[in-house]
Amino acid sequence: MPAKHPPRYLDNHATTRTDPRVVEAMLPFFSERFGNAASIGHSFGEDAARAVETARQEVASLVGARPEEVIFTSGATEANNLALKGLLSTSGNRRHLVVSDIEHPSVLDPVARLARTGCRVTRVGCDTTGQVDPAEVAAAIEPDTALVSVMWANNEVGTINPVAEIADRCVDAGVVFHTDAVQAVGRIPVNCRNVTAGLLSLSAHKIYGPKGIGALVVRRSSQRIRLLPQIEGGGHEAHLRSGTLPVPLIVGFGTACRLAADALESESVRLAGLAKTLAAGIGERLEGVHINGHPDDRLPGNMNLGFEGVDGDALQAGLKRIAVSSGSACTTADPGTSHVLAAMGVPETLSRASLRFGLGRFNTEDDILAAIDEIVETVERLRTTTRPG
Ligand SMILES: Cc1ncc(COP(=O)(O)O)c(C=O)c1O
Repeated sequence: MPAKHPPRYLDNHATTRTDPRVVEAMLPFFSERFGNAASIGHSFGEDAARAVETARQEVASLVGARPEEVIFTSGATEANNLALKGLLSTSGNRRHLVVSDIEHPSVLDPVARLARTGCRVTRVGCDTTGQVDPAEVAAAIEPDTALVSVMWANNEVGTINPVAEIADRCVDAGVVFHTDAVQAVGRIPVNCRNVTAGLLSLSAHKIYGPKGIGALVVRRSSQRIRLLPQIEGGGHEAHLRSGTLPVPLIVGFGTACRLAADALESESVRLAGLAKTLAAGIGERLEGVHINGHPDDRLPGNMNLGFEGVDGDALQAGLKRIAVSSGSACTTADPGTSHVLAAMGVPETLSRASLRFGLGRFNTEDDILAAIDEIVETVERLRTTTRPG
């Protein structure tokens, strides 16, 4: 049961609250409009199928793709698995892939499995701001490279990668480019017409949609991409992902995409302003605070700060009035360390004392002012109790 005074939620890179307008759009599809979108012999099924196609258009439109290129999955984890394992299962003798060090575990873990089953993997690093260098990616491509996977924007430090350039290098080399666009979509413009990625992974719950639905965009324009389905049985979603379509979730995803498109410009300005206020407010009152990530090329609403002279676990435990994340919310194996901050060369003590703030649609300036007070008071308290004298 939620607490009487829940903390202010500043963890919108982990997940977002489903927008009430999204919930409203979904509700009829649990009750009177409950048809199976594959049962098109009667009006219930036809109604559901139409709703799915409307949502498919809304998702496609947000990323500049064509509706038939959107393959619904259970989320981005599944989309990433389908992209990586699906492609490497059809690539014949081309068994090499290139992936960056800062990817989400839903990319790194399937890549590790592919490596165990005979694929060769080249990992490319990032600079101290968390950005991947297109020249380094190009240099890692070999004659038998089948796929390059580099995320559009990082979920911990918010750094935006030069994906258009990376995609061009891949196209020049005849290699498919996959990008995990989960954190970028709905926060910054993501347009398949400008970035020649062959495969893009998306997730609804990061953009005020429901959990349990996402998509893999499989572009049909540029290279011919063949994927082996990872879930079979019925041939749904162009034979790439079988299973009865979760119509309410798909409707919610489509609605979330439409709302995100409408608010993209104004929200990005507002959230970037709030993130700046947060960093400046903390920086004015505390010494020894480091901004992790790129100074400019970062997601609006993201702020990742490292605090000198405090223990990371004590810092996280001490924050009662705000919900934020240590940089590595998505890693269950060792929650204290961040592979992203390590790849950027952030020392481990600072990495352990780093917090990720993800500001979102429902945050106000009041939340930011409360967060500044909470952080400053907690860090000061911890510094006086742990430092001699
Ligand atoms: C960059 C990135 N990729 C993939 C995922 C996984 O998405 P989903 O929760 O839809 O499986 C996340 C979620 O944490 C993410 O931040």
